[in-house]
Amino acid sequence: MDETPERAEDGRNRAWGGRFKGGPSAVMAAINASIGFDRRLWRHDIAASMAHARMLGETGIVAPADAEAILRGLETIASEYEAEGVPVDPALEDIHMTVEARLEALIGPAAGRLHTARSRNDQVATDFRLYVRDAIDAHVAALLDLAHTLLERAEDHVETILPGFTHLQVAQPVTLGHHLMAYVEMFARDLSRFRDARGRLNLCPLGSAALAGTGFPVDRDLTASLLGFEGPTANSIDSVSDRDFALDYLAAAAQTALHLSRLAEEIVLWASERFGFVELPDRWSTGSSIMPQKRNPDAAELVRGHAGRIIGCLVSLMVTMKGLPLAYSKDMQDDKEPLFEAHDLLAVSLAAMAGMMAEIRFVPERMRAAAEAGFPTATDLADWLVREKGLPFREAHHLAGRAVALAEARGLALQALPDSAFADLDPRLAGAAAAPLSVEASVASRTSAGGTAPVRVREAIARARQMLKEVA
Ligand code: ARG
Repeated sequence: MDETPERAEDGRNRAWGGRFKGGPSAVMAAINASIGFDRRLWRHDIAASMAHARMLGETGIVAPADAEAILRGLETIASEYEAEGVPVDPALEDIHMTVEARLEALIGPAAGRLHTARSRNDQVATDFRLYVRDAIDAHVAALLDLAHTLLERAEDHVETILPGFTHLQVAQPVTLGHHLMAYVEMFARDLSRFRDARGRLNLCPLGSAALAGTGFPVDRDLTASLLGFEGPTANSIDSVSDRDFALDYLAAAAQTALHLSRLAEEIVLWASERFGFVELPDRWSTGSSIMPQKRNPDAAELVRGHAGRIIGCLVSLMVTMKGLPLAYSKDMQDDKEPLFEAHDLLAVSLAAMAGMMAEIRFVPERMRAAAEAGFPTATDLADWLVREKGLPFREAHHLAGRAVALAEARGLALQALPDSAFADLDPRLAGAAAAPLSVEASVASRTSAGGTAPVRVREAIARARQMLKEVA
């Protein structure tokens, strides 16, 4: 495509060269240019320009024929970009200048009317909101997909016994279904955080111009509605200086990544030789170039690793923003790369996690065996003493602890101790051999709301399924 020279003969910038005597140094141009990364905003930039042009025509701020020419030119540019991509010319600085220069090449001087009643400050704020809105919609769809996958796996394992851990020590038996549903809860909260962020961001900054608004009779309601916003933003200064919407997005992304990372960490642990709770299929494993026996959970490790970077992106933009006076400062151009990076990392992490969780093979025998070791039903013995013998819990805890020590010394599971051994240890323990000390009995007994008993887990799955249906 033929370029309109952005520089006049003497190197001055055509957008603002009027009060300049010469062009920028090469380094000035290099540090200033954002086209290398903000070309990603081309769809949003063209959409926002089309809404603005239509409004300029309808309000008569620009002659309808010029507005029509601008709209046709922008449509052409969109199809060029669709087919060939966006040309990167650092002299054109950013996506806004790049589109406008191309428009001028296509339609001539009428292109110069597009920037009436507009500044790149409200323009970039609008483009970026549109981008973040699309990003949120894509993540919400991916979170729904992941939550459904987990829900289905949970349903298959409502009765599968798994050792529950605290401090990574065997604590109490739980079901795998209950454990997986814990992640469904987390991802449902993440989804609602993204939706909250979307609700707050869905206002249109266009018409705020540089920072003070504009004297032209713009119709801000019209541009807002053309772009699918709920309405215009309220304060022109805030409109061009606010990046809360990007920080809201990044905070939701960081929280989601953190949850993904915890699940990824469990995959790494569980796939290890020591645990053996899961096997990752070949499709989700990698080998070693030196150790032929290896099957490594690289995707899970990278999901865990990416979380660190996504959290870094949030911190990066917070630090960029914290010292900026109102309104726009060029520092704010640095809002895009961390957000794009977080977007790409989160998108691939969500997809990888959904893929792994759909295809991972659980090994119930290993989970069951691990749940038997380490006296996981000692609490059940204490609870039995409270229920059947009326002991205060503290005393019951002490007695159950002594029973554990005895079982350990004899190399037996708690429920394998004969009643005589219980009775000899303390008369209050007489009859304890009949206590429900198997891992199945333990799990089945935990029927409190939100507990691990299969009946409760089935209800939780049904509730979550309903909730996800309402969200979708
Ligand atoms: N490329 C700029 C950015 O991303 C566009 C806004 C430039 N505005 C300005 N007053 N220099 O922030």
